[in-house]
Amino acid sequence: MAAAPPKRAGVSCKNRRIAKRVCNGPGRVGEIMGERVPIGELVQAAGLRRSNCFAPLTALWLFFVSIAAGTAWAADAGPGAALFATCTACHGQHAEGNAKIGAPNLTGQQSAYLIRQLEAFSSGRRGTQTGDNFGAVMRATAGLLKTDADRAAVSSYIASLPIVPVPTGSAGAKADLATGRNYFNGICSNCHGSDGKGNGPLSAPRLVGQDRTYILRQYAAFKSGARGADPADTYGVQMRSMTRALPDERTEQAVFDYLSTLGGQGG
Ligand code: HEC
Ligand code: HEC
Repeated sequence: MAAAPPKRAGVSCKNRRIAKRVCNGPGRVGEIMGERVPIGELVQAAGLRRSNCFAPLTALWLFFVSIAAGTAWAADAGPGAALFATCTACHGQHAEGNAKIGAPNLTGQQSAYLIRQLEAFSSGRRGTQTGDNFGAVMRATAGLLKTDADRAAVSSYIASLPIVPVPTGSAGAKADLATGRNYFNGICSNCHGSDGKGNGPLSAPRLVGQDRTYILRQYAAFKSGARGADPADTYGVQMRSMTRALPDERTEQAVFDYLSTLGGQGG
């Protein structure tokens, strides 16, 4: 007869293994749902091991709590609104995001961009790299949207919401805004617009009114190839090639400092 798995600190080995998969593994976080892991245990298990897992796992935990509490209430307000109810645990009631758990502001983004990202998470083009804990959390959720029609409905609902710019984190007194402006206007604005509000026909998303930590994380993801490495990912590849245009980290910081001064009110 096989011996029962040993227990340590009240966490079963099975759950520690899964927590490890979330934190270190190739992002196959969707399996968490299939295995019906008690999320409290998962958070505990991961919290014990890797503190940087804490924010994404808190996000996942909030999400499960909200579903358990039956907050998916908006069933009578159209399919997009009903689907969006499952997003609010992390992205907020108004899709404004929650910087504490790494969930970006979705307001002001074009529907086509949102659909493309949801597809990227679902297909594993985004959120599967080792160490991409925030992407892995979103990937688990994206799996709940089963069809193209679901992705389209929730995306057009989000795109219809009013724009809510969130604090971007201010540029410090030492910020080199002149350099940042030169590079932003010389390179980034060609696609993202000189106001950073994005450009639908060019498929370039809105960058202003967004939490700075998120923007930096995405820029780094393009640079490392966690986003935009798949040759079939036309727009991701385009953006990835742009990360070669900023010569060093100082220039990157200058560009993001400049971006944070652009505000982001209005459409
Ligand atoms: C458990 C928390 C959680 C839930 C629930 C959640 N998200 Fe997310 N979402 C995240 C996190 C964290 C990220 C950032 C991922 C990253 O850094 O790559 C994200 C990123 C995204 C992005 C990418 C935005 C961009 O600018 O590229 C989209 C689109 C998105 N979520 C849509 C949704 C939709 C639609 C739902 C509901 C069906 C949803 N999310 C539910 C946590 C969540
Ligand atoms: C040739 C057009 C082009 C240029 C120039 C460009 N981008 Fe992008 N950028 C894109 C596209 C397209 C995407 C969306 C990629 C996708 O769909 O995954 C993007 C996405 C991004 C994102 C992710 C936003 C999010 O919500 O996740 C960041 C951050 C970003 N760009 C920053 C920059 C910066 C900084 C510059 C200047 C150095 C720049 N981009 C120049 C086309 C461009």
